[in-house]
Amino acid sequence: MPIYAAAMSLPTPGPDRTAVVTGASSGIGAEIARELSRRGHQVVLVARSADKLESLARELGTGARVLAADLADRSVRAGLLDRVTGLGLVPDILINNAGLSTLGPVHRADPDAEGNMIEVDVVAVADLCTRFLPGMVERGRGALLNVASTAAFQPLPGQAAYGASKAFVLSYTQSLAGELRGTGVSATALCPGPVDTGFGETAGFAKEDAETALPSFMWVPADKVAKTAVDAMARGRLVAIPGAANRVGAVFAQVAPRSLLLPILAKQHPGLK
Ligand SMILES: NC(=O)c1ccc[n+]([C@@H]2O[C@H](COP(=O)([O-])OP(=O)(O)OC[C@H]3O[C@@H](n4cnc5c(N)ncnc54)[C@H](OP(=O)(O)O)[C@@H]3O)[C@@H](O)[C@H]2O)c1
Repeated sequence: MPIYAAAMSLPTPGPDRTAVVTGASSGIGAEIARELSRRGHQVVLVARSADKLESLARELGTGARVLAADLADRSVRAGLLDRVTGLGLVPDILINNAGLSTLGPVHRADPDAEGNMIEVDVVAVADLCTRFLPGMVERGRGALLNVASTAAFQPLPGQAAYGASKAFVLSYTQSLAGELRGTGVSATALCPGPVDTGFGETAGFAKEDAETALPSFMWVPADKVAKTAVDAMARGRLVAIPGAANRVGAVFAQVAPRSLLLPILAKQHPGLK
């Protein structure tokens, strides 16, 4: 057995059990909700856009519930677990997928936008893990997926705080996996490369710029990313990187000397043009 894999599978679906998926109104989160639902899991869909969540819930049928929530709001996060159990559901699976990026150099950034991103990408992930894991450990059953990025493996001038946020998510999830050994609860970090979702537009990327900076062989469709993610959880894997090119790139990014890497990254980043 590889050292990164624990002998585990996803908790068995049941009528009183659910997977909580944050950022389920769009992109990767919506596809992970679809994939889990296809495999028989009930899902609780979390994001701010209630209308989009309702529409996905209608598509997925009676096993899907909607909890609209702004995860940048600490008091909203604090009430989320009670809202899930209030539906009569036990959260066996937690998918921390909600996230966003800012774009451009820090010296031209809006402090509130930077703070909001760190609140959603970092603080909310740690907060929800801290709130949901105790119940899973107590039951001896659970699976956690935190969505990081290939940006976690390298510095990212042009999206400095985003890259650092995802490095936090990767490190944090790996540490959790170490802590959770033998508890019956698994922790997996998903590290996608570029995926065509609402992410680029929210960050302010022009689509052509993103496609020029990141060649086509690196892009993986959101449904494939979701399948890789759920397969990785089912196998108890520690880290999942969808796409062969991104797996090679992640190895290179970790070993490349920063003095060589940084000028290349800074030159090609659309946010620094
Ligand atoms: N797309 C990529 O190239 C890529 C690559 C690597 C990693 N990722 C990561 O993948 C994850 C999903 O991104 P995506 O590509 O699917 O982007 P997306 O289509 O823009 O989806 C982002 C999701 O996050 C939710 N969200 C944002 N702010 C929120 C808040 N304050 N409270 C609750 N939900 C919030 C959004 O919902 P509402 O707006 O409805 O709240 C939406 O459902 C993110 O963590 C991202 O960093 C993406």
